[in-house]
Amino acid sequence: MADLLRVNSILISAFFNLINRSKNMSKTIIVSNRLPVSLQHKFGKFEFKPSAGGLATGLGSIYKEGDNIWIGWPGNDVEDPNQRQEVSEELKKLKMAPVFLTKKDIELYYEGFSNETIWPAFHYFTQYINYEETYWQAYVAVNRKFCDAILESANPDDTIWVHDYQLLLLPMMLRETLPSATIAFFQHIPFPSYEIIRMLPWRKEMLEGMVGADLIGFHTYDDMRHFLSAVGRILGLSNESGYIQADNRLINVDSFPMGIDYDKFAKAAVSKKTLANVKKFKSLLGEQRLLLTIDRLDYSKGIPQRIKVFDELLEAHPEIHETVSMIMVVVPSRDKVKSYMELKEEIDTLVGGINSKYRTLNWVPVHYFYRSFPFNELSAFYSMSDIALVTPLRDGMNLVCKEFVASKTDKKGVLILSEMAGASKELVDAVIVNPNDMLAVKKSILTALNMPEDEQVNRITTMQESLKKYDIFQWVKVFMDRLQNVKEKQQEFQSKAIDKALMKELEKKFKAATDPVLFLDYDGTLVGFKNRPENAFPDKELLDIIDKLAGKCHVVIISGRDKETLGKWFANQRVDMIAEHGVWVKRSEAESFELYAEVDDSWKPDIRQVMDYYVLRTPGAFIEEKHHSLVWHYRKVESGLGDLRMRELFSHLKYMASGHNLQVLEGNMVLEIKRPDINKGRAAIGLLKGESHDFVLALGDDWTDEDTFKAMPKDAYTIRVGYAYTQADYNIKNPTEVRQLLTSFVH
Ligand code: UDP
Ligand code: G6P
Repeated sequence: MADLLRVNSILISAFFNLINRSKNMSKTIIVSNRLPVSLQHKFGKFEFKPSAGGLATGLGSIYKEGDNIWIGWPGNDVEDPNQRQEVSEELKKLKMAPVFLTKKDIELYYEGFSNETIWPAFHYFTQYINYEETYWQAYVAVNRKFCDAILESANPDDTIWVHDYQLLLLPMMLRETLPSATIAFFQHIPFPSYEIIRMLPWRKEMLEGMVGADLIGFHTYDDMRHFLSAVGRILGLSNESGYIQADNRLINVDSFPMGIDYDKFAKAAVSKKTLANVKKFKSLLGEQRLLLTIDRLDYSKGIPQRIKVFDELLEAHPEIHETVSMIMVVVPSRDKVKSYMELKEEIDTLVGGINSKYRTLNWVPVHYFYRSFPFNELSAFYSMSDIALVTPLRDGMNLVCKEFVASKTDKKGVLILSEMAGASKELVDAVIVNPNDMLAVKKSILTALNMPEDEQVNRITTMQESLKKYDIFQWVKVFMDRLQNVKEKQQEFQSKAIDKALMKELEKKFKAATDPVLFLDYDGTLVGFKNRPENAFPDKELLDIIDKLAGKCHVVIISGRDKETLGKWFANQRVDMIAEHGVWVKRSEAESFELYAEVDDSWKPDIRQVMDYYVLRTPGAFIEEKHHSLVWHYRKVESGLGDLRMRELFSHLKYMASGHNLQVLEGNMVLEIKRPDINKGRAAIGLLKGESHDFVLALGDDWTDEDTFKAMPKDAYTIRVGYAYTQADYNIKNPTEVRQLLTSFVH
């Protein structure tokens, strides 16, 4: 049972020490679908065996300490409550807690949605995707089951680290109950392009689940940028250098290439047990060059393609017969899923074919094993093989190639690595191949067979240095540092966030004042953004609020909008208006707007010509002409293209602006060019001149409002909507909260 587990307690402690370093001993909860041990039924009893797969083996040597705990599925169904109890107790000793899945859960959530929907989609095997609503429902229900299990042992200050694609909904489910918890998510498989994600009917819910985390990690930069693009297009959340601003939370997305426990593999390679295995295996195999392949049974690994390449190689090169053998380990996996069963049959047939075609009485081309091996036998395979052929068609990271390199203590050996594996971004000194290019793979084997020893040593040495440096402990450390960093960043915003007490204080001060004034920006502050600017007109609720406020104080609507629109929308209200960022001002009692700033618009035709050209090239873009500025809008442009064109136009306009003494500013899906000396702040100061107010409040949501904030008197309250860096004293979540605040003033 437990003694079957190969868990190194020293390493385990080291891991959790790292995790807990800055956490004041609050605990860390690791959550993954599969626990690092799998329960096996044996003659009516059960026992635990180490689980297969990169996630379990990668993190499997590094958990346990203090109250920390790993929560997950024990890998088999247990129906009997007594047995469940027994399993829970055994797991508790190992610092683990089970989430029991029923046979139906396993069929619909695990084999179904996880491995027949997400797995093929995320590995670009769209032909295998099963779009099954019942799978999805089970996926939601089991994610909820995990959530409930975690909530049983989680405290608000714990760190919860959720792993992989089976649990995409979990971060948001947890966030809903533990709003300020530290939640991290790491995806161990690729994150595909938006073109694939958009195929899934449940894409929005899946992404919404993930953004419940504070930190979202992927193995490679490509995975990360695919994710950011999908989140931008599907959830409408933009990002700046990997930071997503979601409602009231900052989320960091980054790439963290996972390492291995380098020393464990390097030490094992020279251990007595491994050396004994090497001796035994070599004597059985005789004088052979060995080509090693180790994978879980999976169509993403390209196993049949690899056998075919070896077949063609033997066909074309009879001189290597009887001198080269392939050792092919296929670890059983998901064998109830149809595509996996078919794959198994295909591999069996191909191996049978190649072996029967070429074998001799003392030579077998492919030594095929459909089972998993104990660690020291695996270590022997790594250290005695001349070449590792790691050619997945798609792989999130791939640890096998790293384990092979770490086991090469004599530095001799060649790694052939698919460019479709995440590891290829790091192990650039491998022989990198496109696994679909059979000819190239064939050539790479010949190259490897003929590679001079000093070149082998050079390549392996460089790769080993990198693997040693970025090992699994470093990976955890960097990940945890980033998690702490994003929490600190959130804290900065949080300390400025308006809370109930401050809301109450503002209400009290407003009500006690005899002559209060409010400067209210319009778009993004009093109303949310709409696809068409003209649709963001004031609704009845807003007009009521403004009407009531105007009865109690001096209200100034201070906007970038043109005077015609503002004038029309607030025609019947007793409010002052500042339009076009301070070009026009209308006192409530005045009939019309007055020009506040002298406008020289001789620059416009030149600039307009350039902007027009970008409108022509960009479907959905349009220009808004204001008295003192020109605005290029791209809210309705295809996502991505809008950004690209805006950048281009930005550099074009920046160059022209210097000649005209103009300023180019980036706003919310707009690019605006204007005179720098005209701004909201200047107009606001103008309005306040000669007046004395005992309560001043300014509310705004973007960079144009920063001018207002800066211009306000010292004792004014300044509040920025949204959680961005600001000169304002406080942040408030969104226009809904703004309305709540303003309503409290008049009730
Ligand atoms: N592995 C194992 N027993 C075996 C063969 C392989 O535990 O008999 C381990 C191997 O050491 C590696 C993991 O399975 O750590 C496979 O991880 P990888 O990232 O390469 O692929 P994944 O299974 O995650 O797709
Ligand atoms: C990959 C996935 C893991 C998974 C493992 C084994 O490494 O990233 O999440 O646990 O394969 O697959 P299995 O379905 O047996 O858990």
